[in-house]
Amino acid sequence: MDARPIGVFDSGVGGLTVVKGIRGALPNESIVYVGDTARVPYGTRSRETIITFALEIVRKLLDHDVKALVVACNTISAVALDEIRALTNLPVLGVIEPTVKEAVNQSKNKVIGVIGTQATIQSKAYEMAIQAIEPHAQVIALATPMLVPIVEEELFNDPVADVMVKEYLGQFEQVKQLDTLILGCTHYPLLKDKIEACMGTSVRVIDSAYPTANTLRELLTDKDMLGNGGKPTQVFFTSDDPSKSEKIAKDFLGEEVHLDKIRL
Ligand code: DGL
Repeated sequence: MDARPIGVFDSGVGGLTVVKGIRGALPNESIVYVGDTARVPYGTRSRETIITFALEIVRKLLDHDVKALVVACNTISAVALDEIRALTNLPVLGVIEPTVKEAVNQSKNKVIGVIGTQATIQSKAYEMAIQAIEPHAQVIALATPMLVPIVEEELFNDPVADVMVKEYLGQFEQVKQLDTLILGCTHYPLLKDKIEACMGTSVRVIDSAYPTANTLRELLTDKDMLGNGGKPTQVFFTSDDPSKSEKIAKDFLGEEVHLDKIRL
């Protein structure tokens, strides 16, 4: 048993989709969340910058005496996981491995699409993780960076979102056998309905929240690190003016959220 909180972090507030999953799977766990809203997006930045920013967040979370780290950001999971693991002995869970396992399980013919930020797609982290489990899988990876600002600007119900989703996902049309699509970015679950409608019923759309939360539950159970049943606490930090992000944070978490400022 371990009453310490779980540290969850992201380049912004999109990682609250993963927090929502964790709260469903592990309702008794305390959570400290950090979203680097002052420096989002990470997906357009260099590997070095993403690693530097990620390690700054991790050091802050370690100050909060967390028992495990969940890297809710696909971009950080794709490029900085080794560097984070080198900094701490705590369990560190990224979103890519759990999401890939779920996608490979769900896919019948192992023809799997992935969409994500430029940094995530360039890293080939998803291809490598899929082919590590299923060497003959066909992976079609596509950077869809404009979907991040569309969600950030709360345009997910605006016609501009339909246009961009169709424009990007139209590129999968030649891959007739594709039966599974991974949403490899924290922001895309808010466009899931549109993405599902665009891909059609033959394609299963997988996001990171529930696979990651379920893997975290297994990991904490195996290590005998589950919470001790006390009343869980939740603290949410952002690096920019918190009031600017509270509205969009509610869209990601599905309920009102109070954000505090953190200096990274
Ligand atoms: N959180 C990032 C991800 O999941 C998306 C936003 C960004 O580019 O920082 O890849």
